[in-house]
Amino acid sequence: MEIISIPKIMQETSKEYLVDGKTIGLVPTMGALHEGHLSLVGRAKQENDITVVSIFVNPIQFGASEDLERYPRDIEGDTEKLRREKVDIIFMPEISSMYPEVFLTYVEVEKISERLCGAFRPGHFRGVATVVTKLLNIVKPTRAYFGQKDFQQSIIIKQLVKDLNMDVDVVVCPTVREQDGLAMSSRNAYLDRAQREAATVIYRCLKEASDLIKSGVIDRTYIKGLMQDRLLKEPAVSSVDYAGVYDPETMNELSEIKGDVLLTVALRIGDTRLIDNMLVTSSDYQIQQPNFKSLKERAI
Ligand code: PAF
Repeated sequence: MEIISIPKIMQETSKEYLVDGKTIGLVPTMGALHEGHLSLVGRAKQENDITVVSIFVNPIQFGASEDLERYPRDIEGDTEKLRREKVDIIFMPEISSMYPEVFLTYVEVEKISERLCGAFRPGHFRGVATVVTKLLNIVKPTRAYFGQKDFQQSIIIKQLVKDLNMDVDVVVCPTVREQDGLAMSSRNAYLDRAQREAATVIYRCLKEASDLIKSGVIDRTYIKGLMQDRLLKEPAVSSVDYAGVYDPETMNELSEIKGDVLLTVALRIGDTRLIDNMLVTSSDYQIQQPNFKSLKERAI
């Protein structure tokens, strides 16, 4: 396994692989790797000749009052995990090589970045879109892998790849959960035992809402009310940024449950902000239309 820290060297290395006709899979991460990341690595390894994992805690996607300084870092542990997974390259750039003193270009995906997490974390998605664009330009992957837990992020990245005519497939992989349903996240490490237990309310709330919709309860106001109620009843939850039913393409809140819908939640337990979501597709809950032809045939 090679460890590369200089963007130019990473770019040259990728170019050589591409000239040789090899495909490259990129898994962009901020480190503190868990099973969720490793599932993306597994998928990238299956689908590509070369797998690159980037580890970079991107300062420009953290707001002034956010957790950049205390964000978990475990370079030794991460390197060991990736060695075990037989990853080909870790790309681990320094902040100064990604953002030199004169750095003037940012990528902003309008509208869909302003909603949900974007409304509570101003500038966050601009930071994500900028670093992901840089990583795609440096690593030149054939495919790039992201987790569905960060649903809004994955939609924004798909949009920027389309808008900027970037030649890469964005692959979104299912959320990996702990046994009790909590979505895996590097930020779970901040939770003490009681908070960790309380955090399961997120999955329970999403599952209850999803099951209700699938059983035919498609009253949006009721579902939203139920989600808010379940979350706010948990004493460890200090605030709920949002919880409800959203359009999985535009990230707008839906006024009715129709077609594919995204149930999504962002809340704080103590100082820790957690997000999660569940997609309910129209085929999961559409009430079967009677087949009139066969009914007529039966009547005859
Ligand atoms: O999802 C993450 O870990 C980060 O937002 C990403 C995509 C690596 C960009 O810094």
